[in-house]
Amino acid sequence: MAPSPRDASPKLQDAMDDTVAAINRTIDRLLPNTDLAENQLYDAMRHGTLNGGKRLRPFLAIQSAKLFNVDTNRSRRVAAAIEFVHCYSLIHDDLPAMDDASLRRGHPTVHKQYDDATAILAGDALLTLAFEVLSENETHEDPRVRCELIRSLAQASGGHGMVGGQMLDLIAENKEFDLGTISRLQRMKTGKLMAFACESGAILGRSDGPHRRALCNYAHDLGLAFQVTDDILDIEADPQDTGKDTGKDEAAGKATFVSTMGKEQARERAEMLVNQAVRHLHVFENRADILKELAYYVLQRRA
Ligand code: IPE
Ligand code: IPE
Ligand code: MG
Ligand code: MG
Ligand code: MG
Repeated sequence: MAPSPRDASPKLQDAMDDTVAAINRTIDRLLPNTDLAENQLYDAMRHGTLNGGKRLRPFLAIQSAKLFNVDTNRSRRVAAAIEFVHCYSLIHDDLPAMDDASLRRGHPTVHKQYDDATAILAGDALLTLAFEVLSENETHEDPRVRCELIRSLAQASGGHGMVGGQMLDLIAENKEFDLGTISRLQRMKTGKLMAFACESGAILGRSDGPHRRALCNYAHDLGLAFQVTDDILDIEADPQDTGKDTGKDEAAGKATFVSTMGKEQARERAEMLVNQAVRHLHVFENRADILKELAYYVLQRRA
């Protein structure tokens, strides 16, 4: 049966639950508590990584790796590295100098639980840990594969990716952007890391053909749709459901798809992007059905 645009099937829910459990175990192993004098740093890193989250990027990495028959220990390590970068970006995004948020994943943000300096350091250490994990032999025996993972994650996270997108996002508080620039901003701040998550399976599987390109195209459309729904949730959802502060974008006067085109048109845009994302996966026939379902889930999510 074709997945319905409105409900997450039990199969998708099970697969997402499995990802949460597997990624929690992997992170817990990669990030143990210590009895060192600086243990506050590790506590803060664990606070920022082991307290919930949908684990969507790890899900994308693990499912894309499955398409190329990659060993799960490898894909879980890459998934954890991506989640480390994502969590670092959230810890810094929540700081007073950025979105000044106090709630994340239903818990106090890292700077509220500790202090601003600890939150900055925890983010820094998560970012560098991500690359350490990718560089290790256990991630892949071929150093060229490890190097490609490292380069692609760096490109997705840095000035041409997430960090550049965050800069544009801050500028969007004081400047009217046209839709083209808002799309670019969203693709950079959210889309690139999701695209890397999807591409990482192909990199681990040493695939460089149309299947890899299809996954990349899927992820770019999905990432943009995901950020549009995030912006809609920011205006209409309840912090009890999302586990994070809402109403932040409007309060900051931020230019988003929603502020520019209105909620209904933004929702239509997200639907159009999700349908487009799903079409890219046709090259996999039915082997990528779970990724198609995930795309529809992104539209109906409440958190
Ligand atoms: C929140 O990402 C930040 C954005 C890029 C919109 P998620 O909605 O994936 O947050 P978690 O990981 O589930 O907490
Ligand atoms: C942040 O976007 C995306 C990142 C790269 C961290 P938002 O500021 O909209 O994310 P939330 O709404 O705080 O999760
Ligand atoms: Mg932000
Ligand atoms: Mg924010
Ligand atoms: Mg948001």
